[in-house]
Amino acid sequence: MAFTQDELKQQVAKAAVEYVKSGIIGVGTGSTANFFIEELAKVKHKIDGAVASSEATAQRLRGHGIEVFDLNSVDDLEIYVDGADEITEHMHMLKGGGGALTREKIVAAVAKKFICICDATKYVPVLGKFPLPVEVLPMAKSHVARELVKLGGQPQLRDFTTDNGNLILDVHGLTITDPVAMEAKINQIVGVVTNGLFAARPANVLLLATADGVKTYQ
Ligand code: A5P
Repeated sequence: MAFTQDELKQQVAKAAVEYVKSGIIGVGTGSTANFFIEELAKVKHKIDGAVASSEATAQRLRGHGIEVFDLNSVDDLEIYVDGADEITEHMHMLKGGGGALTREKIVAAVAKKFICICDATKYVPVLGKFPLPVEVLPMAKSHVARELVKLGGQPQLRDFTTDNGNLILDVHGLTITDPVAMEAKINQIVGVVTNGLFAARPANVLLLATADGVKTYQ
């Protein structure tokens, strides 16, 4: 039976709720994360609340009566649940299509377990077909763009301001065979806040919605 992409996202969101036990959890951003929030609302009695990776997610959580905590008031997070734009068998991810990459990376850094929820279209052999988002301080955008060209990419300025008041360069044309090295290299460019490669801190669990059901990789 063929499922729509939204049905697949819903299935994987339901599977992720099985990992919600207690305490405060980290919640990602995007259309798949939004399905997770819908499912989380049904079991909100189990948790004290959540840390949000974007203003949009915070608003959505509050709309469901889920308390949103400042990350600085939380000692640790058992889990962080989020989608990805691309993920490999090594659990390296490319994220930030929704522009929330920096806060996502910060919340993910605190969480003990990153649970990535995706439909099968996101599972790729090599990262980079999806343009790599790079958050930059506004005054550095031209400098960073020139440096990204030297790395072989074609940066395009997105018409968007992040929750942190910064800009996003979407870098086209990269074939990212060494995501750990590329993540570090781009982060070293002065003016970069962070980039959408989540390789130094990969996912711990991948819940992948396929036509044959949700598959778990860990
Ligand atoms: C948000 O900034 C992104 O990192 C999202 O997690 C990612 O783009 C996946 O979004 P969808 O679930 O909407 O595809």
